[in-house]
Amino acid sequence: MKDRIPLIAGNWKMFKTSNEALDAAAQLAKLVSDIDTVDIMIAPPFTSLTVVSEVIRDTRIALGAQDMYWEKEGAFTGEISAPMLISAGCQYVIIGHSERRQYFGETDETVNKKIMAATASGLIPILCVGETETQRDEKKTFSVLDKQIEKGLEKLTLDEHQSLIIAYEPVWAIGSGKTATPDQVQEVHAFLRDLIEKRFGNMLAKATRILYGGSVKPDNVTELMALPDVDGALVGGASLKADSFSKIIHF
Ligand code: 13P
Repeated sequence: MKDRIPLIAGNWKMFKTSNEALDAAAQLAKLVSDIDTVDIMIAPPFTSLTVVSEVIRDTRIALGAQDMYWEKEGAFTGEISAPMLISAGCQYVIIGHSERRQYFGETDETVNKKIMAATASGLIPILCVGETETQRDEKKTFSVLDKQIEKGLEKLTLDEHQSLIIAYEPVWAIGSGKTATPDQVQEVHAFLRDLIEKRFGNMLAKATRILYGGSVKPDNVTELMALPDVDGALVGGASLKADSFSKIIHF
C-alpha cells in the first residue's frame, strides 16, 4: 500500500496559444471535478500561465512551469525567474527535462542551480532524469541516472529536499509511442528510491514521489500506476486533450 498521494502532471511543451490553453484547462477542470484523491498539475507554456491560473482557481488542478532560471531578476534576456512563476500562479516547476538537456544545453550543473533556486523560493521542483536508447543498450542506465541525481541534487539539504519530486523519463520513450515495460519502470523507480534513501534516509525516500513519463496513455496508465514505486505520471502528448488527460487522471 502506497501512502504517497499520486500526482498526474501534464507537460504541454510548446503547444497551445493562450486561448487554446484556456479552453483545454476549462474543459479539464469540468472533467476532473469528481477527483479528490489525486494531485493534478498542468504546465502550459509561459505565455498562458496567467490565463490558465484564473480558470483553474478553486479546482484541484495546480499550475506548473516547464523551466525557470535560477536568478531572481537581472539582465538575462528571455529568462523567467521563480518569483515571476509564483506571481503567475505556479506551484510546481519542471526542471531538467530531457528536451532542455538535448536542445538547449541544460546540464546537471544548471539543473542543480535551478533546483536550489526553486526550493528556496517555495516552488515544488519536478526533477527529470532518464537515459537515452544508446545508454540503455550500452547498459549505462543506472550510472547515467546515478550521476543525474547525484549532480542534480548536489548540496541540497534534507529540508530542501522535502518538496522535491522526481520524474523518470527514458528519452527513448518520450513521444515515441514506446512505453517502457512495467518491469523496466519498476526496476528504475526502485533504484531511484534507493538512491534517495542513501542520500537522505528512509523516511524521505518513502515520502518522495517518483513519476514515470514517456508515452503514458489512457490505456497503459493503470498498469503503470499499479507498480509499487510509481507515484504518478508526467504526461506529454496525451495531456493536450482534456478528455484523454482526464482518463489518465481517472486511472
Ligand atoms: P509523451 O507523453 O508525449 O511521451 O511526453 C512525455 C514527456 O516528455 C513529459 O514530460
